[in-house]
Amino acid sequence: MEKTLIVLKPDAVQRQLVGQIIGRFEQKGLRLVALRMLSVGPELAGKMYAVHEGKDFYQPLIEFITAGPVVAMVWQGRDAISVARKMMGPTFGPDAPAGTIRGDLGMSRRYNLIHGSDSPESAAKEIPLFFGAGEIIDYTPVGERWIYARQGEKLI
Ligand code: RTP
Ligand code: MG
Repeated sequence: MEKTLIVLKPDAVQRQLVGQIIGRFEQKGLRLVALRMLSVGPELAGKMYAVHEGKDFYQPLIEFITAGPVVAMVWQGRDAISVARKMMGPTFGPDAPAGTIRGDLGMSRRYNLIHGSDSPESAAKEIPLFFGAGEIIDYTPVGERWIYARQGEKLI
């Protein structure tokens, strides 16, 4: 099943929204397979946001992500990447619909609470920046039997 990197940014940690946001992913039925709190230094920030290097918002973005501790996680599930992106909502809170994480919890056009991988290629690059292979836990929560229906091998 697909895995996605989610990073709760410094504003989420400082505003003590970590539990609420993790709760949303748990309630949705995604499976938490890795979690770590850390401070992102300039080197990791540069790798995480390499695709944005040269853009006008790059420097403020690096300052933001390095400004305080973050909580990095890997969540697993069927179509976990697109499901998590839908739950996050559009990039900035003022544009994001109610019901999404950014829509419900944010007002800023810079502080936007959360990062999520935007494609399988991004997830494959981003997850190893934060977690070694041995830090991603392989298990099946007992309740997952009732998260997905099954048709043979297929999850419905
Ligand atoms: P993320 O990568 O953090 O999950 O967010 P995203 O996909 O919704 O947004 P993306 O376009 O990848 O941009 C990465 C982060 O850069 C900051 N940003 N600032 N115009 C701007 O001022 C601007 N555009 C993007 C945001 O922090 C965004 O999350
Ligand atoms: Mg992005």
